[in-house]
Amino acid sequence: MSDQILIAPSILSADFRKLGDEIKAVVDAGADLIHCDIMDGLFVPNISYGPMIVEWAKKASTVPLDVHLMIVDPIRYIKHFRDAGADIITVHAEACADLPAVIDAINDSGAQVGVSVNPDKPVDLFLPYLEKIDMVLIMSVYAGFGGQKFMPGVLDKVRAVRSRAEMIGHNTLAIEIDGGITGDNAQLCAEAGADIFVAGSYVFGATDYRERIDAVRNAAKAGRKSAGGKS
Ligand code: DX5
Ligand code: ZN
Repeated sequence: MSDQILIAPSILSADFRKLGDEIKAVVDAGADLIHCDIMDGLFVPNISYGPMIVEWAKKASTVPLDVHLMIVDPIRYIKHFRDAGADIITVHAEACADLPAVIDAINDSGAQVGVSVNPDKPVDLFLPYLEKIDMVLIMSVYAGFGGQKFMPGVLDKVRAVRSRAEMIGHNTLAIEIDGGITGDNAQLCAEAGADIFVAGSYVFGATDYRERIDAVRNAAKAGRKSAGGKS
């Protein structure tokens, strides 16, 4: 667990006509990371954007880029996204033919290693490699679209991953929760053991980004506190 609660606005819900300004605005409003959702139209039905936009995001951002690859066979593109400026690269375990090889490729690229699964896939797909993973991303909606409704059932996975990390002494493992996050559910997520909170439509759908980022952070801090951890 990280000592800090981190908020990662997803630019999927930003106004792409002024992406640079949108990124600067959320960073000014307190974003700790910029979450980039990469969709290939195969692993998920939607197509979003590729390394070129990530490169532009990197130029506009003064905080690290958290790049979430929702693509088939992500090993093909690790280098592209790292070169574009990704600081954390997250792959879906169910999209990888050889997950340990993908983990090594991300590690070798110099990025932090993130691994995710969709709500209907078990965490057993990546738990055997947990000590080589820097961040687990638990999907709280099915990957593919912003603006979906949070699925509270996935919090059992957050608890399972956190308890396995404690069992093996992986004290720096970060757990990110992604999908439908708001000021109303971030507390529950933090209580379960989440550290990093992705929020797309909740932040970019408002006029006051700071108010939304603070709402998620304060709810998460309350959850951390009620779970007995540092806030
Ligand atoms: C869904 C993406 C999410 C999404 C979050 O496939 O991984 O990052 O953009 O958007 P909201 O917060 O609107 O659910
Ligand atoms: Zn995402």
